[in-house]
Amino acid sequence: MFGKTNTCFTMSQGYLDLKYKPQSNDLVCLFYVEPAEGVSLAKAANHVAGESSIGTWTEVSTMKDDIWGKLRPSIYSLDEENKLVKIAYPLELFEPENIAQILSSVAGNIYGMKALENLRLLDVGFPSKMIKKHAGPRFGIQGVRDVVEVRERPLVGTIVKPKVGLPPREHANVAYEAWVGGCDVVKDDENLTSQGFNKFKDRITETLGARDKAEGDSGETKVYMPNVTAETYEMLERIDYVKDHGGRYAMVDVVTLGFSAVQSVRQKDYGVVLHAHRAMHAALTRNPRHGITMLALAKLLRLVGVDQLHIGTAVGKMQGPKEEVYSISQAITQKKVEEKQDRLPQLWGQVKPVFPVCSGGLHPGHVPELMGFMGQDIIIQAGGGIHGHPEGTRQGAEAMRAAIEATLENQSLHQWGEKHKPLELALRKFK
Ligand code: 3PG
Ligand code: 3PG
Ligand code: MG
Repeated sequence: MFGKTNTCFTMSQGYLDLKYKPQSNDLVCLFYVEPAEGVSLAKAANHVAGESSIGTWTEVSTMKDDIWGKLRPSIYSLDEENKLVKIAYPLELFEPENIAQILSSVAGNIYGMKALENLRLLDVGFPSKMIKKHAGPRFGIQGVRDVVEVRERPLVGTIVKPKVGLPPREHANVAYEAWVGGCDVVKDDENLTSQGFNKFKDRITETLGARDKAEGDSGETKVYMPNVTAETYEMLERIDYVKDHGGRYAMVDVVTLGFSAVQSVRQKDYGVVLHAHRAMHAALTRNPRHGITMLALAKLLRLVGVDQLHIGTAVGKMQGPKEEVYSISQAITQKKVEEKQDRLPQLWGQVKPVFPVCSGGLHPGHVPELMGFMGQDIIIQAGGGIHGHPEGTRQGAEAMRAAIEATLENQSLHQWGEKHKPLELALRKFK
């Protein structure tokens, strides 16, 4: 079947090859590897390399020369001090179009091995041959700006609050108030789908109607991002419904849905902007010594082809240091990402950028700092920071827009607030 069977490979020959230089067709992983008591880093790395590719916990007589030669990965870098391990995997190990299979390899069984105390997939470097197999974002940042007709400033968004509970008509009214107050985009919250108190189809027709009214009243393009998250076939039907009723966006909870479901949405190529919320990501990303970084998840989602992605805020309610949020932003917007100690180099070729979304605990007072380190090509969303305004949603939205205008004019928020009452009231409340 596979040629001679006299070869019996032992783990001692292992996958270590510190002279190996990753090939252009290799998929490369950077891991933080914390060995179990009494296990060397090299041995732990070998377990990771084997279990994520062709090996297992013991020698197998069924291993063949050609399998070993063609499919074995190479551990080409071991950093004992920082517990960092780099492994290059031949592309043939993977089904390049299949994100689930890629993760079942390099983010699968290896997390449960006894040889490890902790394991964190810090970054994945995709070869261009794999990148070419994926659609990538349909719109990109410029494409989204064309849809929303907003050029030289961050997009301003809100999330209808309370998170869930409002019936469709009231949901639409809150959205209307946010749009006419100055929001470009209004989204559903990540846990609002089609509950008894707010059925999906009713919410879509009511809220798109409110969007049309808000466009007429404001003279600005307005966007509704309905949460279509559901079982895949149902989700595809919901997107059809949104499109049939004039919607231009769909919001998907990418982690709870799973990558294959997001791939199904992208491959349908509906022509709607895909907004990716990352609820549940922190189950994987939060522990600094275990799991998967948001950087790695974000790169996978750029590959799959979402158009907008929550990446954290570093200044709001959700944790995530500034440098991490910034490096994620770089990874999803740049064509070429430089190597760093905890980051692999990445060339994205023709893959469009993903619009970074900063959301979670934000209010107008955060805008100057946020724009200061993230720039203008971001989407700033505030739920409580708008609906919690003392004068209500409409003035909350006005305050967010005023904070962005002040920042673009290099004016202090307090100075600007002297001429913009809604901003002044927001600053007073959210100090
Ligand atoms: C979101 O889904 O983006 C959040 O619910 C933001 O809500 P918050 O601004 O109230 O944290
Ligand atoms: C929320 O939904 O509470 C906020 O948007 C936080 O989500 P994020 O950290 O994924 O932006
Ligand atoms: Mg939310």
